[in-house]
Amino acid sequence: MENDDIEHAARLILASQYVVGLTGAGVSVESSIRPFRGPDGLWTEYGEPPMDGYQHFLADPKTSWEQRIKREGYARELYETLMKAKPNPAHYALAGLEEMGILRSLITQNVDNLHRAAGNRKIAEIHGNFSKLRCIQCNSRYEPEEISLEILPPRCPRCNGIVKSDTVMFGEPIPVDVLEICQDEASKCDCMLLVGTSAFVYPAAGFPLQVKGKEGILIEVNLYETEITSSCNISFRGKAGEVLPRLVEGIKVKLQESGSSP
Ligand code: APR
Repeated sequence: MENDDIEHAARLILASQYVVGLTGAGVSVESSIRPFRGPDGLWTEYGEPPMDGYQHFLADPKTSWEQRIKREGYARELYETLMKAKPNPAHYALAGLEEMGILRSLITQNVDNLHRAAGNRKIAEIHGNFSKLRCIQCNSRYEPEEISLEILPPRCPRCNGIVKSDTVMFGEPIPVDVLEICQDEASKCDCMLLVGTSAFVYPAAGFPLQVKGKEGILIEVNLYETEITSSCNISFRGKAGEVLPRLVEGIKVKLQESGSSP
């Protein structure tokens, strides 16, 4: 990761009108949350979950809830790491870019709540948030303490619909309210910062292609090459927690050079 690349990326970002971040599991690896794919991936070890997970939930939500409460196998490991996890320098760098007014919004595939914990506010959690519950009928979100689990499946206090974890299961449609925000942000975006995602899972993987399609800028930060690397203007090979703070510093230097304060 050369200084020239940092400088080049900083120039591209500052020359853009609407910068949006797209993050994946890799941004939280330095917070001790395993990625899904690659050498240390959860799915690599346990296999990808069945694509009809949501259909199973709809067929028998009571049993699905009982399993969720029991939390066995990788679900327990994942839940325990999510509960303990803290933001790392990559999360704080992205929060800093939002505070500087450079990052307009963040689309994250992560359910770990760490971008919010680091201070980002304009976030679209396209795969939901593990610390929340959601009604599958009216999309209302709830804190766990707002929903009684005495009777399973729990029901929505607003519309009596079935309530489930806010995290999006395999086979479950992305909640329309979040999807619309993501599509809106991608349509305004002329520079996308891709951090720690294999750019493999749709619809999220479609957003950088949409930006590229209108000759927007793609800047990637990843340990390894990904599906999208060949379409990127710059692709940094390194840890997000090391690259992003350097990129923020590079942007601050450029701003000072141009006489505008960071
Ligand atoms: N810094 C930067 N990148 C990293 C780091 C790191 N410290 N560690 C790993 N990576 C990269 C890997 O090289 C990989 O390309 O992060 C990426 C993680 O990819 P995945 O595990 O496939 O995660 P993600 O892209 O978020 O997956 C998308 O798939 O299984 C579903 O719902 C799940 O949201 C998830 C979606």
